[in-house]
Amino acid sequence: MAPAVWTPDSWRSLPNAQEVAYSDENELETCVSRLRELPPLVTSWEIERIKSYFAQAQEGRRFVLQGGDCAETLSDCRSEVIAAKLKILLQMSLVLVHGGHRPVVRVGRFAGQYAKPRSKPTETRDGQELPSYFGDLVNQPAFSEAARKVDPKLLLRGYEHAALTLNFVRSLGAGGFADVHHPEYWEMAFFRKASLPEHLRDEYEQLTRRLSEALRFMEALGEGDVEELTRVEFFTSHEGLNLHYESAQTRAVPRRRGYYDLTVHFPWIGERTRQLNGAHVEFFRGISNPIGVKVGPSTTSDDLLRLAEVLDPENEPGKLVIITRMGASRAAERLPELIRTAKRAGRRILWICDPMHGNTLSTKAGIKTRNFDDILREVEVTFDVHDAERSYLGGVHFELTGEDVTECTGGAAGITEDDLDKNYASLCDPRLNYRQALEMSFRIAQRMKQSRV
Ligand code: PEP
Ligand code: CO
Repeated sequence: MAPAVWTPDSWRSLPNAQEVAYSDENELETCVSRLRELPPLVTSWEIERIKSYFAQAQEGRRFVLQGGDCAETLSDCRSEVIAAKLKILLQMSLVLVHGGHRPVVRVGRFAGQYAKPRSKPTETRDGQELPSYFGDLVNQPAFSEAARKVDPKLLLRGYEHAALTLNFVRSLGAGGFADVHHPEYWEMAFFRKASLPEHLRDEYEQLTRRLSEALRFMEALGEGDVEELTRVEFFTSHEGLNLHYESAQTRAVPRRRGYYDLTVHFPWIGERTRQLNGAHVEFFRGISNPIGVKVGPSTTSDDLLRLAEVLDPENEPGKLVIITRMGASRAAERLPELIRTAKRAGRRILWICDPMHGNTLSTKAGIKTRNFDDILREVEVTFDVHDAERSYLGGVHFELTGEDVTECTGGAAGITEDDLDKNYASLCDPRLNYRQALEMSFRIAQRMKQSRV
């Protein structure tokens, strides 16, 4: 039973499907107390702004692009890695604006995507059993007793790295990342050299030309306008998994109702922790941020309605985001019922498609991968279903990186299973690399043109 009165700590009395086994309660409390005193990473007015954008996306007037690593790491908190992530999100968003003729809200899986749910609490290698790797907020990936020990000080290290990341993201965004004077960020000229089907290459070239003309035109209007128009806004998101971390930074703010989780603009509840009577739903029901919930193929209409009632009792515009991750082969069968139920109940929902987590495969050699065509197919089928139900697909959610990794197969770059060990860097799920991600955005833009109203 949910406690009658919500507080930032009321989740503590409820079952947690991904409980972290901290061994020293006192040390945990010392770290959490310090985290409580530190300044927030984001502000309530930014959170209200993204919520208002989400409200528009629910009505088909904006589109959301959410993407980043499966597991962000502290060691990847480096300028080139962060800039590469922003660059791919920026470029994809420009392509999607072109395809959908709608503004695109950019949401990174960064500045806090450090906690991972695991299907098994331990991992065994060569007869040795150790705790699984639960993300850099909890323990370290190396397979040794010392590295896998759960360490509450990592809650503070995670907060600090989230702050460093966000500081750099904000500076690049404010500094005119998409400025005509920095064409390296938005120009897609390298595609001229890439081995791409002709129609895609033509489209890339046309788009690049149009963008550059548009930016030059804006510049001709006057410096001040350009600065305003080319300011690139990025929002942050992560799975709100470690509730010690989330709740320590959850507070009431002056002149507003309710509590905000100030580690992030847009947190989500994962597929493994969305139990109605669980700690995560309890924590999330009390915060004012927009809330995402991942839903897989086992989700029933009843689950969806009850989650909506608990998490968004006022049916507030922009509040509830349902991130569907059905798998390419299940989406057509599972989605229509959920969309119909939500519609019948008069629910305001922002539907986002995560085409990654339902399409994970294992190769013969035991490597976790995903195929470009499966990922694209789930997005396309999801668009089809929303069109047929007269609903809107309001966004897409990808695991991707700005780096040249080899983790997913397929795409014009032609990555095969044999290529996977060339540069497989993910500590968790396989990500689209830079080229695959950009190509994906073009394919989605083409599909969006068909749905344009
Ligand atoms: C994730 O987004 O990395 C994840 C674990 O997803 P899901 O909860 O949908 O399995
Ligand atoms: Co993942």
